[in-house]
Amino acid sequence: MDRRTLLCGLLALTACGTGAPAREPGVGSARPGDRVAALADVPVMTGALVDVGGDGQLLLVRPSEAEVRAFHPACPHQGTVVNPPAAGVITCPTHRSAFDPASGAVLSGPSPRGLAEVPVAVSGADVVLS
Ligand code: FES
Repeated sequence: MDRRTLLCGLLALTACGTGAPAREPGVGSARPGDRVAALADVPVMTGALVDVGGDGQLLLVRPSEAEVRAFHPACPHQGTVVNPPAAGVITCPTHRSAFDPASGAVLSGPSPRGLAEVPVAVSGADVVLS
């Protein structure tokens, strides 16, 4: 057993199992005007988790063809990265808090508050920080 396998087993970190680098929820080193995703990569009526600024991660939500919103994806309860909207609700997989994809407001569950919104805009075919 190599050191990485041992550490993953001991710490039970999901990211270790995939080999994916750990991401910090938020904008990382990105700055206003930086591209965070192609608009085409954010499905209408749901959304996507995207890596931003080298070490950040945002939840992009697209409630309509023309609108995109972004949220800090860490659940305010204990920090789990929430899932993109399904059936009109953003859900935390750990303790099932539910959030409104239009506002990030908490709808139910133990989360003490909603998801923090990050300002973004559509610029041509891209979503950019604003
Ligand atoms: S960590 Fe999200 S509800 Fe507990």
